[in-house]
Amino acid sequence: AEVVIVRDEDAAGALVAGAIVELIRAKPDAVLGLATGSTPLATYRALARRIRDDRIDVRGVRGFALDEYVGLPAGHPESYRAVITREVVEPLGLTPELVRVPNGDPATIRTAGADYEAAMVAAGGVDLQILGIGRTGHIGFNEPGSSLASLTRVKTLTEPTRADNARFFDSPDDVPMHCITQGIGTILRARHLVLLAFGEAKADAIVAAVEGPVTASQPGSAIQLHPRTTVIVDEAAAARLE
Ligand code: F6R
Repeated sequence: AEVVIVRDEDAAGALVAGAIVELIRAKPDAVLGLATGSTPLATYRALARRIRDDRIDVRGVRGFALDEYVGLPAGHPESYRAVITREVVEPLGLTPELVRVPNGDPATIRTAGADYEAAMVAAGGVDLQILGIGRTGHIGFNEPGSSLASLTRVKTLTEPTRADNARFFDSPDDVPMHCITQGIGTILRARHLVLLAFGEAKADAIVAAVEGPVTASQPGSAIQLHPRTTVIVDEAAAARLE
């Protein structure tokens, strides 16, 4: 992977926003792979600014989120559908119907993974996938032990990940037990991976992803199987890199 060390999240956001603007200029119906969580927020802010300042036409841009909780009531503000609408679709001015999030409704969950895979294939695949990484090394919600060839499916969240995400909920018990997530195999089909990480809590996951052996025990290490990966980190997240 190409590793870029930046001063802070805003510098990373500006870099990624620049790459996405170039992509959209070349391909107005580009397909973006969207992460949630804190890590990509600076990118979405920078991208919203670039789209406004440079008057980029994004009406044809398509998007696929990485993951969703299973079983949150429709419209719950911390469902990733709501987060993607609030942090991405609205500020960027994307066309809502063109941005998909895996469907975490228990009523249709048995077919939701295959449906999502089919929609991604029909869209021609993801051009640029934004990724964060969890302390446990997860990408998407593929926790350690996830098959490197996995496709979109239901997973159980680990306790450290539920604890990390408790900050978004009123009580830690409110964090759902299950999620539906793109698999590692799904993520690897994107044409360009951009992995972002900031802060010392991510240093172990980053060194494992970039320099460690490729192993299902460190899902982030799957990026080494991809021919085009850019890793953008601050000094703290890069601290353990050789
Ligand atoms: C989010 C996702 C997760 C996060 C990871 C880091 O869609 O799939 O892999 O990227 O948990 O979360 P933050 O950015 O909040 O530290």
